[in-house]
Amino acid sequence: MKKLILTTALLGTGLAAFLQGGNSKPANYEAGKKVYGQVCLSCHMTDGSGVPGLNPPLQKTDWVTGDKKRLINVVLKGLNDPITVNGEEYANPMPAQASLSDQQIADVLTYIRNSFGNKASAITPAEVKALRGK
Ligand code: HEC
Repeated sequence: MKKLILTTALLGTGLAAFLQGGNSKPANYEAGKKVYGQVCLSCHMTDGSGVPGLNPPLQKTDWVTGDKKRLINVVLKGLNDPITVNGEEYANPMPAQASLSDQQIADVLTYIRNSFGNKASAITPAEVKALRGK
């Protein structure tokens, strides 16, 4: 019995460490997830897989993990260019989401840069502010 309790305790500690550590998420990850659910999910889907032929995926695309300024501008100004994402063409326009605050945009972009198999640096509200209105 003692052994069982000990094993359970060890498993619990291990699980907690696994959930918190290792793959540590940026501080604003949860806030960004919320914005994503409210604004982006309807087009780009929960897992960032998009909708074939309509809305591009956010999984390992160079738009998401690449140049920060280009990424911030997609949300601030929208996008209305035919683009090729992961080998598929998309030409549907994406409406600007400029009513989101600098903080919300920083949060949601940090979230997508660290979700769906992506791993890239966080985006700060100051970086969003610097591009707004330009
Ligand atoms: C109404 C649907 C819609 C919404 C809402 C939307 N997008 Fe998009 N998004 C698109 C479409 C369509 C494109 C492709 C635009 C083009 O080809 O010009 C796109 C392109 C992108 C791209 C660049 C291409 C890629 O797949 O990497 C990123 C990054 C992106 N969206 C992120 C977001 C984020 C973050 C949000 C929420 C803040 C969001 N989108 C909200 C439809 C949407």
